[in-house]
Amino acid sequence: MNVCRSKKLLSVLFTFSVSISFAQRNQIIPIETQHNVIALQVGNDLRVSTAYFGTKLKDTSEYRFVRQMYRRGDDYSGILNSAYTPAGSRNLVEPAIEVRHANGNTSLDLYFVSSAVEKTDANVSVTNILLRDSAYALEVSLFFKVYYKEDVVEQWTVIRNKEKGNVTLQKYASANLYLTGDQYWLKQFHGDWAKEMQPEVTRLTAGIKVLDTKLGTRAHLYQPPTFMVSLDKPATEDEGKVLLGQLEWSGNFKVDLEVDPLNNLRLIAGINPFASEYTLKPNQQFETPAFVFTFSDKGTGEASRNLHRWARNYKLYDGKGDRMTLLNNWEATFFNFDEPILAGLLKDTKKLGVDLFLLDDGWFGNNYPRNNDRAGLGDWQENVKKLPHGVGFLVREAENNGVKFGIWVEPEMVNPKSDLYLKHPEWVIKQPNRQEHLYRNQLVLDLSNPKVQNFVFGILDTLFTKNPNLAFIKWDCNAVIYNAYSSFLEKQSHLYVDYVKGLYNVLDRVRAKYPKVEMMLCSGGGGRVDYGALKYFNEFWLSDNTDPLERVFIQYEYSYFYPAISHSNHVTDWGKQPLKYRTDVAMMGKLGFDIVVSKLSPKDLEFAQKAVKTYDSIKTIIWQGDMYRLADPRENPYASVMYVNELKDKAVMFNYITSNRYGAGSLSPIKLKGLDPAKKYKIREINIYQESRFGNGSNNSYSGDYLMTVGYNPGVNSNRMSVVLQIEEAK
Ligand code: GLA
Repeated sequence: MNVCRSKKLLSVLFTFSVSISFAQRNQIIPIETQHNVIALQVGNDLRVSTAYFGTKLKDTSEYRFVRQMYRRGDDYSGILNSAYTPAGSRNLVEPAIEVRHANGNTSLDLYFVSSAVEKTDANVSVTNILLRDSAYALEVSLFFKVYYKEDVVEQWTVIRNKEKGNVTLQKYASANLYLTGDQYWLKQFHGDWAKEMQPEVTRLTAGIKVLDTKLGTRAHLYQPPTFMVSLDKPATEDEGKVLLGQLEWSGNFKVDLEVDPLNNLRLIAGINPFASEYTLKPNQQFETPAFVFTFSDKGTGEASRNLHRWARNYKLYDGKGDRMTLLNNWEATFFNFDEPILAGLLKDTKKLGVDLFLLDDGWFGNNYPRNNDRAGLGDWQENVKKLPHGVGFLVREAENNGVKFGIWVEPEMVNPKSDLYLKHPEWVIKQPNRQEHLYRNQLVLDLSNPKVQNFVFGILDTLFTKNPNLAFIKWDCNAVIYNAYSSFLEKQSHLYVDYVKGLYNVLDRVRAKYPKVEMMLCSGGGGRVDYGALKYFNEFWLSDNTDPLERVFIQYEYSYFYPAISHSNHVTDWGKQPLKYRTDVAMMGKLGFDIVVSKLSPKDLEFAQKAVKTYDSIKTIIWQGDMYRLADPRENPYASVMYVNELKDKAVMFNYITSNRYGAGSLSPIKLKGLDPAKKYKIREINIYQESRFGNGSNNSYSGDYLMTVGYNPGVNSNRMSVVLQIEEAK
C-alpha cells in the first residue's frame, strides 16, 4: 500500500472513530426476550463482543462485569467473543465472515458504527447493529429479531459492498453466538431415507464439531439443520439450560460448534461456504437467511413449547389455521391406478369421513408415462390412458362426493426419460463433460435460472388455473444435487445459494397467487424440513416410514422443533400394530390415511370412521395446545405425550407401549404436566377400539395437583398397546 493511501485510510478511521462518543464506546446493547438476553458490548476499541448470553439480569449495567468473573486464561486475540468474527485481521479461530476485497486483500476488521431498535409491535422488535471495516468500504449489519413472549430470536446479517470493485464472500454466517458453561452437550440428529431424526448426544470437547450438509436441495438424507446444545450437563425435559436452533434455509448449511481455548462455546451458523463463494458487485448486498433459536433454563420441554408457539404465531404457513384430514393413494395403489380406481377411492374418502382425497405420484406423462419412478418427471400433462378426462374430472368427482381434491407434484425435478429433458437439457443441473449420476432415476432442474423458475411456477399455476377448486398440494423433492453445474450461471459457485433463492422466489409467487391452498412439504420422506421452507407450507411429511412403532420415535424427536399441527401423519399398512395403535399415533399431528378402505374389516372401518370424528373433536387441542413430553420411549418401555389447551380445561394424553418384553407397560403412574393444580379434572379413555376393561374410565375426578404430583396410570401394556385419554375440567 503506498504511503499516501495509508495516510488517507488512517484519517478515515480517525474521523470515523472520534465521531463515536465515550458512552457509545462502552455501551451494552441488551437484546432481550421475556427471560433471556444476548448482551452485546461495544468495546473501547469499538469492536462488538458478547458480554453475556443466557437468563437475563434485572440490571443491564451489570452485564459488563460478567467476563471479569472468568479466569480461564488469556484471549490473545481479544476477539474470541466477537459478535461477528471477521477473518484475516487479529482472529485466530473459526470466523463468521471471510471476504476477498476488490484488490485481492483478504483482511477484515469490523467496528461499531451505530445501533437501532425498531419495534414492529408490542411483542416483536428488530435490533440492527451496523459494523464497518476500518480499511475497506465494506459494511455488515447484524439483525436480531426478537419475539419477546416466545423467547425466540432470529438472527441474520446483511453484507454490503461499497467498494469500487467486486467483493467475494467466502464465508457469510448468519449468527455468531458465544455461550458460557462448564460443559457443552450437543444433541444432533442424523439418518437416512425412512430413518429420519436419529438423535445422538455427545459432549463437545476442545476444537470444532461441524454439522452440515452439501446435498444442495435437501438436508436430511444425512442430517437436518436442527440441533440443541445444553450448558453444563445434558438438559432434561424440565431442567437445564438448553438452546434449540436451526438455520432457516432449505439448502446447504453449516454449524460450527467450537469450544474455544477459554472453554466457551462459539456457535457459528449459516449457509455452508462449501463451493459457494459469492460475489458482490459494487453497491450490492447479501442478506443471509435467519438462524432461529430459543433458549430456556428450564429444560427442553419449555424450549420446544416456545418454539412451537413462535412457529404457529409467526412462521409456519397459516400456523393458527385449519387443516384437512385426508385419504392418500400412494401406499394403496403406488403408480397403478386409473379413473375408475380413483373414482372408487373418492367414494372411500367420503365413506371414511375425511375432508380430502390426495392423488399421489403417477398421474402425468404421455410420451414417457409415469408408471414407475424411471420416467415422466417433468411432463406435467395428465396421462391420457390413466386419466382420459383429466384432473378437472377428478376435482368435480370429488365435489360430487362432498370431499376436496389434492395432488402430488415434484416440480423441481426431471427424469432423463421425459420430453422436458429432451427439450431443455440446458435446464438440468449436470456437468457438461461428465457422466450423469442419478438419484431415484432423476436429476434436478436449475432453479437459479429465471426461465426454470417460470416453468416451475407455471406447473402450479396451470394446475390451479385449470382447476380453481384444487385444494391441496403435496410438493415433493426427492433428488440431491450431484455434478453441481449450471449452464445458466456465470459464477458456478453461486449455484447452491441461487438454487434455494430461486426456489423461494417460486414459492413466493405461488403463495402470493394461491394463499388459501394447503401445501405439504415432502422430500423423499422428511428430507427437507426447515423453517425457511415452512414459511410457505402448512405441514410437512415426516418420513416415508409410517410403521407406527418407528413413528412414535420419529415424531417424538421432530416434536422438539415443530408443532404438532405441522406434522402430516398417515395411517398405513406399515408395521405389525393394530389399526387403533396406528391411528392413535397418526392423530398426534395432522391425521391422514393411506390404506385401502374397501379392504378394511367392518369393525376396522367402523373404528376408523369413529376415529375421524373423535379426532375432529380434539384436533384443536393437539394443533394449538401446549405439548408436554411425559415419557421418552428411549428411556421407558412406553411413550407418553400430552397436549393442553390454553385455558387448561382440556387436554389429551397419548400413551404407547414401545417394548414387547414380558410384563412391559406403565407400571407406575405417569405424571401429567401443564394442568392447573387448582382445577379438578375427569379422565376418560377415548378412541377405544372396543369396550375394554378400563371402558370409559371411572367417575373419579382428580385435582391438577394430584395428576401432576402423583400422576395417572393409563394402564398401557401388551394388551392395551395404545391408550388415548381425554382430560377435561370437571365442572
Ligand atoms: C416420495 C414421497 C412419498 C411418495 C413418493 C411418490 O418418496 O416421500 O410419500 O409421494 O415420493 O413417488
